[in-house]
Amino acid sequence: MSALRVGLLGLGEVAQSIHLPVLRDQRHLWKVAGLFDVSKKLIDLGLSQNPGAVGYESAAALINSPDIDVVFILSSDETHAPFLHAAINAKKHVLLEKPACLTTGELDALIEHAKGYEKTIFVGYMRRYASAYQAARAELPAFEDITHVRIFDLISEGRHFLSKSQNVLYPDDIDPDLLQKGAMARAALIGQVVGDKAPADLVRAYRGLTALSSHHINAMRGLLGEPEGVLAAHRTNAGANTTVMFDYGHFVANYDAVVDDLGLFDAMIEVRSNTKRVRIIYDTPYIRSLPTRLEITEASPTGPRHRTMDPIYSDAFSNELLTFHRHIMDKTAPETDLEDSRRDLALMEKAIAKMKEIRAS
Ligand SMILES: NC(=O)c1ccc[n+]([C@@H]2O[C@H](COP(=O)([O-])OP(=O)(O)OC[C@H]3O[C@@H](n4cnc5c(N)ncnc54)[C@H](O)[C@@H]3O)[C@@H](O)[C@H]2O)c1
Repeated sequence: MSALRVGLLGLGEVAQSIHLPVLRDQRHLWKVAGLFDVSKKLIDLGLSQNPGAVGYESAAALINSPDIDVVFILSSDETHAPFLHAAINAKKHVLLEKPACLTTGELDALIEHAKGYEKTIFVGYMRRYASAYQAARAELPAFEDITHVRIFDLISEGRHFLSKSQNVLYPDDIDPDLLQKGAMARAALIGQVVGDKAPADLVRAYRGLTALSSHHINAMRGLLGEPEGVLAAHRTNAGANTTVMFDYGHFVANYDAVVDDLGLFDAMIEVRSNTKRVRIIYDTPYIRSLPTRLEITEASPTGPRHRTMDPIYSDAFSNELLTFHRHIMDKTAPETDLEDSRRDLALMEKAIAKMKEIRAS
C-alpha cells in the first residue's frame, strides 16, 4: 500500500506541534505532499522541513490538486466550513480539526452536502482516541448505576507548555486585511449563537466552550451518551471560567473550565457509582507522548482498592491518525463525524442560553 498524500491547510501551532510530526512518524501511512497557509513564512518553513512537499498558491489549488488524497483542515475555525465544502466537491478524505464549526447552521449545511459521501470526514477530537479513554469504556459502571460525573479542565494556555519544548513559528507576515476579515467572520458566527450585542464575557465563554471545552463535552458524550439537556451554566472571570451542569436524568455531569496562568494542566473525567470510581486523567496539553492515566477505585471489605493503568505512553494524536487511516482504508464511519460534532454544538448553544439567564459577574 502506498502512503496517502496529505495536503495541509493552515500551518499554525497545531500543525507544527502535532500534525506534521505525527505524519512524519507515520511515514508508512502518509506523505506530506501539499502545504498552504496565508503566511508565506509558514509555507517556507513547512517546505524546508518536508522534502518533496509542494507549496500551493491557494487553498482551492491544494484542495483540487490531483496530487492530494487527503486534506487536513488545520486553519482558523471560521474557515472550516468553506474549506470542507470545497474538499467534498473535490472528493477528498478530510481530517477536520475541532471544533468542526462554530455554529449548528454551518454543520447542517455540511451534513446535507456530505449525504452519501463516499470518502472519510473525520473530526480531530484526539481525547476520544487516548488509550486511557478507550480502556475506561470497559471499566465504567453500568449506566443505570452511575451516581455522579465530574469533568474539569483547570488549565493554562498551550503557550505555557509548548514554549518550553518546541520552537513554533508564529507568523508576522499575514496581510492585516485578511486577519481582520477572519476576525469579523468569526465574530459574526459567534454572534449567531450569543447574540449581536452580547457582552464580551459571554462571547469569551462561547469561544472557550468551542475551543477548550469541546474536547471534554465530546468525550463525555462518547462515554455516556446524550444528556437530556443542560440544567445550569454560568461564566465568571470575564468568561475565562465556565461551569455547566449536564442532565443525565438520574445523575448530573458537572463540567468546570478554569483558564489561568499557573502553568498547570489538570484535566479529568471522573465517573462514579456507589462502589466504583473511574478516572481518566489527561495530564498533558497538546504535547505529544506525555502520558495519560486511568485510575480505578473499587469498594472492598478491607477498604477501597486502587488499580491504575499508568503511565500510558501511547499518544492520543498518533492514535487519532491511525484510526483515521483505518477508516479510510476500511471505508468505515468514524465516531467523531459531523453529526457527532453537531450534537456538541447544540449542547453548547443550550449552555449559552442558560448563561444568559444568570447575571454576569
Ligand atoms: N486538537 C487539538 O488539541 C487542537 C489544538 C489546537 C488547535 N486546534 C484547532 O486547530 C485549528 C488551528 O489552531 P491553531 O492553534 O493551530 O491556530 P493558529 O492560529 O496557530 O493556526 C491557524 C493557521 O491557519 C492559518 N489560516 C487562517 N486563515 C487561513 C486561510 N483562509 N487559508 C489558509 N490558512 C489560513 C493562519 O495563518 C494560521 O497559521 C483550530 O480550529 C483549533 O481549534 C486543535
